[in-house]
Amino acid sequence: MALTVEGLKKSYGNLKVLDGVTFSVEEGEFVCLIGESGCGKTTILKIIAGLERPDEGRVDFKGVNRMGFVFQDDRLLPWKTVYGNIQFALKAMGVEDGDVVRRIIDFVGLKGFENYYPKQLSGGMRQRVGIARALAVNPDLLLMDEPFASLDARTRERMQEELLRIVGGKAVVFVTHSIDEAVYLADKVVVLSQRPSRVVRFIEIDIEKPRDRNSDEFIEKRREIYTALQASSG
Ligand SMILES: Nc1ncnc2c1ncn2[C@@H]1O[C@H](COP(=O)(O)OP(=O)(O)O)[C@@H](O)[C@H]1O
Ligand SMILES: [Mg+2]
Repeated sequence: MALTVEGLKKSYGNLKVLDGVTFSVEEGEFVCLIGESGCGKTTILKIIAGLERPDEGRVDFKGVNRMGFVFQDDRLLPWKTVYGNIQFALKAMGVEDGDVVRRIIDFVGLKGFENYYPKQLSGGMRQRVGIARALAVNPDLLLMDEPFASLDARTRERMQEELLRIVGGKAVVFVTHSIDEAVYLADKVVVLSQRPSRVVRFIEIDIEKPRDRNSDEFIEKRREIYTALQASSG
């Protein structure tokens, strides 16, 4: 399995957003895209998912049959329960298996909340439903757009820890503007410049997981990304 994004260019009217974005994701690799707000991160994910068309460039998939998408806002159906939201995603794939739904709910730690509605859940729990829904289709590639941005610091760290367990060895493209989050999660960080964005650096994070946020090597990687972002914002 592999994903190659090559030379993506995209404008909205006169606004030039992407100016030749190139990177790749190997099988089982967790890749974080990091860049300032408005630099085009969501646009890149949408192009990968086929929700937007690039003006130039291409996206190549090898062995990717299904993708899952986790949005920044949870985008759950408010009139459906936790169970109903996940069942709905599976139905769209032609799967109507209650055991699968229950197993996924259990897997993301929502056992006992099957019959709750989104408004009865905390932000972290709603994001877990969003992750469960994306995983329900058993995707080869998971696309995640700042899924934890609206969570408080402690919940966010707990969700990051759980996410690594949940995604196992799946290939992931995870958008964030948090340097700490990128160093905690990623095998490779793709640092984007300000708009119109290009890749300014690739930074491999070869620290064993789970990572200690206070270790010297962690802090050193954080500094490296910070410096790359600073340099790109001119
Ligand atoms: N559908 C659209 N039409 C017009 N402008 C858009 C559209 N989508 C995004 N933009 C603009 O493109 C820029 C990049 O957006 P986005 O990809 O959402 O950035 P990011 O996710 O990095 O914050 C922003 O200035 C945004 O306002
Ligand atoms: Mg965005």
